[in-house]
Amino acid sequence: MDDGENTPGCCFDDWARNESRRARRVGADGVTTALLDGLAQVGLTGRTVLDVGAGAGTLVVGALERGAARATGFDLGPGAVEAARSLAADRGLAARARFEVADGSVAALPPSDLVTLNRVICCYPDAAALVTHTLAAAGRGYAFVLPRSTGPFGRINRAVLRLGNLWFRFRPGVYGGYRAFVHDIRPIHDRVTAAGFRPVHTAHPRGLWHLAVYARA
Ligand SMILES: C[S@@+](CC[C@H](N)C(=O)[O-])C[C@H]1O[C@@H](n2cnc3c(N)ncnc32)[C@H](O)[C@@H]1O
Repeated sequence: MDDGENTPGCCFDDWARNESRRARRVGADGVTTALLDGLAQVGLTGRTVLDVGAGAGTLVVGALERGAARATGFDLGPGAVEAARSLAADRGLAARARFEVADGSVAALPPSDLVTLNRVICCYPDAAALVTHTLAAAGRGYAFVLPRSTGPFGRINRAVLRLGNLWFRFRPGVYGGYRAFVHDIRPIHDRVTAAGFRPVHTAHPRGLWHLAVYARA
């Protein structure tokens, strides 16, 4: 884990509102699209999906548009949940999408075929708690995207996040104590495989992200 010790603060509601506006104009961003493409390795059609840290709801909406039966998004931010509900309603998917304000590391999670964490583990200090708790809800597949932690890209990510965290620290009124983390990926991978999953797809969108999809072994 990189530096920082606080739980996520205030600022993701703004991110979610911006993402929601962008998604209405041009659809899901490239990383989310890459994750949806990767989930095809496990199969989305007819599945239930739980997206923890759902933000503006773009993955939930994308999963439903690709044939998922129902999808739930949990997020710490009430503004994010509001933006996600509104995006799903605009797409005519409100009946199959549910969004709630909840901390995915401790909340009661609905058992789901697929559980996803798209750029979320890096926003939360206790990666082990978040991964262990969300794995317990995953039936057929589990997937995450987080910053690469090793090699040149890992070094770049650590340097960029260290600078970013300095910026956040000096603006507590805006960021509410938020810190970002480059968690080591190896122990997360080991935790997922120890829970009975095997890797079926790995990619590095934009070079800096590590995207991994696992299926029940
Ligand atoms: C960088 S944003 C990513 C949003 C979305 N997944 C995406 O990729 O567009 C991280 C999101 O995770 C949420 N988050 C962080 N830790 C969380 C937790 N423990 N439980 C639920 N949501 C969490 C934040 O509120 C924020 O909306």
